[in-house]
Amino acid sequence: MPTPSSQPFCASSIIGTGSYMPAKVLTNDDLSKIVDTSDEWITTRTGIKERRIAAPDEATSDMAAEAARRAMADAGVSAEDIQLIIVATVTPDMFFPSTACFVQKKIGAVNAVCFDVSAACSGFLYALQVARHFINTGNRITALVIGAEKLSSLVNWQDRNTCVLFGDGAGAVVIRRACENEPEAQGRVLSTVMGSDGNLTDLLKVPGGASACPITPENVASRPNTIHMEGRETFKHAVTRMLEASQQALEMAGLSAKDVSLVIPHQANARIIGAIADRLGLPEEKVFMNLDKYGNTSAATIPVALDEARRAGRIKKGDVVLLVAFGGGFTWASSVVRW
Ligand code: ACO
Repeated sequence: MPTPSSQPFCASSIIGTGSYMPAKVLTNDDLSKIVDTSDEWITTRTGIKERRIAAPDEATSDMAAEAARRAMADAGVSAEDIQLIIVATVTPDMFFPSTACFVQKKIGAVNAVCFDVSAACSGFLYALQVARHFINTGNRITALVIGAEKLSSLVNWQDRNTCVLFGDGAGAVVIRRACENEPEAQGRVLSTVMGSDGNLTDLLKVPGGASACPITPENVASRPNTIHMEGRETFKHAVTRMLEASQQALEMAGLSAKDVSLVIPHQANARIIGAIADRLGLPEEKVFMNLDKYGNTSAATIPVALDEARRAGRIKKGDVVLLVAFGGGFTWASSVVRW
């Protein structure tokens, strides 16, 4: 009998990744023709140069389904192998059915249980943790965890404070239990921490269009169904919470910042990311950023960045990857993954 220490380490493992970004590019210069802004202001305050905008007939589930197909191809699994689909989104196709059910139909994952998770920009890491719990109950299930957003449908294109920040896109991972000696074991999730502070719901929200404030002929002109944000306050909380969550997730995994090979943070603002990297003592080359191309795609930023980092060869076997997010709620989360 092997001793416990000689047994292979098994964990919920990311066995494939995929992403999809819509074709239409909206540059900072394009935006400066719509609102009173400039490429210089947006670049220096945020790091964003351009973002992608979905076609009018392209729903969140269309982008999610394409990201899912690419992740399944990468993992070498078929749609019939998928037993769970979780979509993290704040821009669902409809209030119901869930976007995950639309994805199921589009990819033909007939054996899957499907639902959505709403945790704004932290949604993907929340969904990843939910999938981990399913897997840890002992079921050898294969799950698709997707972050997908059509934020262009929630943006007030007359509000320069917010419209310059957001974009559309989708990223997906296939996750199942795998052991370190199995070839499919790639990104083994070592730890996850999550947090929420519902006292701060007012700082970042879409106040209208749902049960608390339905859209009426009287209120429609004030655009309550668009993103409202206190930018400076959000910025401060994001830095504090993302730093804390990163440190806690590393500690839970028995690691420290010096063990991190690459951090993939939620892509909201290059200054937020820089502040966190500085406090963790991580040099620029260990921080993955693609927000210059895509802006903030909320729940999609981390799976899209993870997929791009892998395909660009930025993640090698044995690497420790730190994922960390912050978003409306407020919500925050961090995961440590060993490749
Ligand atoms: N173009 C030109 N001027 C602008 C623009 C713009 N697009 N937007 C705001 N301004 C002006 C403001 O009106 C203000 O002018 P005033 O001084 O005359 O009043 C001035 O620029 C400074 O505005 P601030 O809001 O103080 O600028 P700040 O440096 O805080 O940057 C920003 C704003 C980029 C929104 C920043 O606060 C931020 O990134 N916050 C984090 C918010 C975020 O990322 N939210 C996304 C969801 S949560 C998350 O993902 C982390």
